[in-house]
Amino acid sequence: MNRSFEKSNKMLGRALEIIPTASQTFSKSHLQYPKGHAPMFIERGLGSRVWDVDGNEYIDMVNGLMAVSLGYNDPDVNRAVMEQLSKGICFSLPSELEYELAQLLVEIIPCAEMVRFGKNGSDATSAAIRLSRAYTGRDKVAVCGYHGWQDWYIGSTARHLGVPQPVRALTQTVPYNDLEALENILKTETYAAFILEPMNVELPRPGYLEGIRKLTESTGTVLVFDEIVTGFHYALGGAQEYFGVTPDLSSFGKGMGNGMPIGAIVGKKEIMKLQDDIFFSGTFGGEALSLAASIAAIKKMKREPVIKQLWSFGGRLSAAVEKVIAANGLGDVLSLKGLDPWKVLSFSGRGDVSAMAVRTFIQKEMIAQGVLLLSSHNMSYAFTEGDHVAVVSAYEKTLDALASGLKRGTLVAEMGCPVIEPIFKVR
Ligand SMILES: Cc1ncc(COP(=O)(O)O)c(C=O)c1O
Repeated sequence: MNRSFEKSNKMLGRALEIIPTASQTFSKSHLQYPKGHAPMFIERGLGSRVWDVDGNEYIDMVNGLMAVSLGYNDPDVNRAVMEQLSKGICFSLPSELEYELAQLLVEIIPCAEMVRFGKNGSDATSAAIRLSRAYTGRDKVAVCGYHGWQDWYIGSTARHLGVPQPVRALTQTVPYNDLEALENILKTETYAAFILEPMNVELPRPGYLEGIRKLTESTGTVLVFDEIVTGFHYALGGAQEYFGVTPDLSSFGKGMGNGMPIGAIVGKKEIMKLQDDIFFSGTFGGEALSLAASIAAIKKMKREPVIKQLWSFGGRLSAAVEKVIAANGLGDVLSLKGLDPWKVLSFSGRGDVSAMAVRTFIQKEMIAQGVLLLSSHNMSYAFTEGDHVAVVSAYEKTLDALASGLKRGTLVAEMGCPVIEPIFKVR
């Protein structure tokens, strides 16, 4: 199908004049999509589908970067938000909703004895780091994965522009699944916290998560699981429930409000109680629409087989895509990593075609087939049997074209758009 992106492109030009990158999120910006061959702005969503400003329809495999766990316009979440809207959004005192949601999280998340709320994932991870520093009286932190935009973390990546060197020096990156590397740094210096995504693309080696639990305990380091992606996807109680290893603190965000802006820091009472004194405070921390949305979303996840379905549809999709990859002899350039609710596409180069050229081509072709794809399968509860068939068929056409382009040696020349540049690589 021939898609026009005329309005998108026009709007992009205008937006770039007054909004840097024309987006509030790097991964949603024009920098991450094939220029001229992708929508730049979305107008609305329903279930598993979105419509761009030119009226093109897509099956959305991005789902608001995993914030939309139930699907767009979910009736239960909408009802809760609308009921709350008629009562008020931001009050002058806390509302009962805070207690209700905190109680739900304490019930379902293994490490959660106390809970505080923020507006996004970075609020929750940053609160965890400040808490850990206050609790241990130590400054340095060890990190593994992606943890948000704040200085203490982003200073450790290639996107550290604007972060002072003394702040950068306090954060140490540790490779995943490498117990020895962690042991080496924890033995050499004292660390306030080790924060990690309990899993992203690699499965934890047997004993790894148990090993870091023991090591952090024996060195007095706070163990923080960043469950902003794994939470409300792997299991209702997150990766800590799924893998059976309980951290001291944990951060949640993304899927907990089905797209409403909410995050949570949860953990052991002994550490969380310090928030009586340390400053984690904001005008909108108890904003009621997001709390109501999150209560409705989590209740639905408890009532209906939401997580089970993320696994089953995600698993069927990755199995089918892996078959298409094999049938086209593309195993050397494309593979799927991670667990079924969140499979990450891993790209490699072939000859003088780079990994990012492969990614750009795949995104472009999938979008042309009506599938909005970034670089992972972010499953939502709204994904249907029909969506499965359509996405697999889009992959068949896309990977057939990729194989022919690679064989002809003309892939990049015929692509018609520049190769996408990576933001930075932490996964
Ligand atoms: C694992 C992880 N931690 C933290 C964050 C930061 O969350 P937010 O963008 O909501 O601040 C993200 C966002 O992508 C994430 O994936």
